[in-house]
Formats: sequence, C-alpha cells, structure tokens
Amino acid sequence: MSLPLRTSRLLVRRFRPEDASALAAYRTLPEVARYQGWSAPVTEDEARRLVREFTAADPDAPGWFQYAVEERESGVLVGDVGVRLDANGMQADLGFTLAPAAQGRGYATEAVRAVLGDLFERRGLRRVSAVCDARNHASARLLERVGFRREGMRPAYTWLKGEWTDDVLYGLLAEWWRD
Ligand SMILES: CC(C)(COP(=O)(O)OP(=O)(O)OC[C@H]1O[C@@H](n2cnc3c(N)ncnc32)[C@H](O)[C@@H]1OP(=O)(O)O)[C@@H](O)C(=O)NCCC(=O)NCCS
Repeated sequence: MSLPLRTSRLLVRRFRPEDASALAAYRTLPEVARYQGWSAPVTEDEARRLVREFTAADPDAPGWFQYAVEERESGVLVGDVGVRLDANGMQADLGFTLAPAAQGRGYATEAVRAVLGDLFERRGLRRVSAVCDARNHASARLLERVGFRREGMRPAYTWLKGEWTDDVLYGLLAEWWRD
C-alpha cells in the first residue's frame, strides 16, 4: 500500500469524509456528468454515501478503488481517478474526473501518470484498459498523452442518458509504459 502518491502539484490519496462537499460540487455539474455513468444532480447525501463506499474499498483488492486528487498548494479536492482491478490482479480499467476549474492545466495527466506508475511499476500489472464516449475528445487526448493506444470502436454499444453512444476502446501495456 503506497498511498498517498505525491506529484509536483498533486497528492493522490484515499478519500476522506470531509471530501463529500467538493465531490458533490463537481459531480453534480451536467458537463462533468455528460459522458459518465452517473446523472446530475448529485446531492451532498449521495456524495457522502459515495465517499463511505470509496473509503471502505481496498486499492489492492479486486473491484473499484477511487483515488482522491488534491491540489497540494490549496489542499482542495480537484478530482478523482478510478481503477477497477480485475480478479486476476494483473489488469485493470481506468476512469477519471476533474472539476472544471482544475481542467486545462495538466492535472489529470499528472494524476493518471502517478496512478499508472504505481500500477505498472510497483504492482506489476500487465494491462490497463479504458473506454470513452467517442465524443469525449478531452478524455481521448488525455489517454493518448499518457501512452494509451486506440484499440477499436464499438458503435451504439452503450445506452446512456436516453441515447445509444459509441465507445472507443483504449489499452496500455506494461511494455509500452516502460518505453
Ligand atoms: C477528461 C478530463 C479529466 C480531462 O481534463 P483535462 O484538463 O483536459 O486534462 P489534463 O488535466 O491532463 O490537462 C490537459 C490539458 O491542459 C493543457 N495544459 C496546460 N498546462 C499543462 C501542463 N502543465 N501540463 C500538461 N498539460 C497542460 C494541455 O495542453 C491540455 O489541453 P488540450 O487537451 O486542450 O490540449 C476532463 O475533461 C473531465 O473531467 N471531464 C469530465 C469527466 C469525464 O468525462 N471523464 C472521462 C470519462 S471516460
């Protein structure tokens, strides 16, 4: 267990109960929820329930673990990174969200690189996969920036918020990460 992960501008750490208000504040925004599995609004009660779930999870056990991303200078929660470790312990799925005020500054890239470094270098994973909505260009740019390769597209695969959406599949192997 290596948390927190420290980068030049961020602390990637476990969620704490006091994160619930900040989590609700960005997850409730329609532009943040647009391509995500949850729907806005997200109430403070819902965020408190989520944070209880996040704090109870084990990053080294199969299933989802949500990392809190804190800006070191301000101590503010600016987003989260989710990792779903497969039952085989050798591969994982990745997701990420930033509050709009923290976007466009490379924070997601910095946080995701820290998490991937931990997954590949300390925990020895072989593969990390990610899926994004074909219209989510910011997410695709982030994935490609950190080394993911586009592996395919699934037309009309996900029924999301009243419409069929196209999924783009991404993968990153340990050997590509090392290179
Ligand atoms: C996906 C998401 C996290 C990407 O956020 P982001 O701010 O674009 O990504 P980063 O924090 O890595 O910042 C990169 C951007 O900041 C710019 N930037 C500015 N300063 C930078 C720095 N010091 N280092 C790196 N990039 C920097 C980059 O040029 C880049 O801009 P561009 O993509 O327009 O070229 C964000 O759009 C989001 O939270 N969306 C809503 C949730 C969502 O859809 N999640 C994905 C589900 S699959």
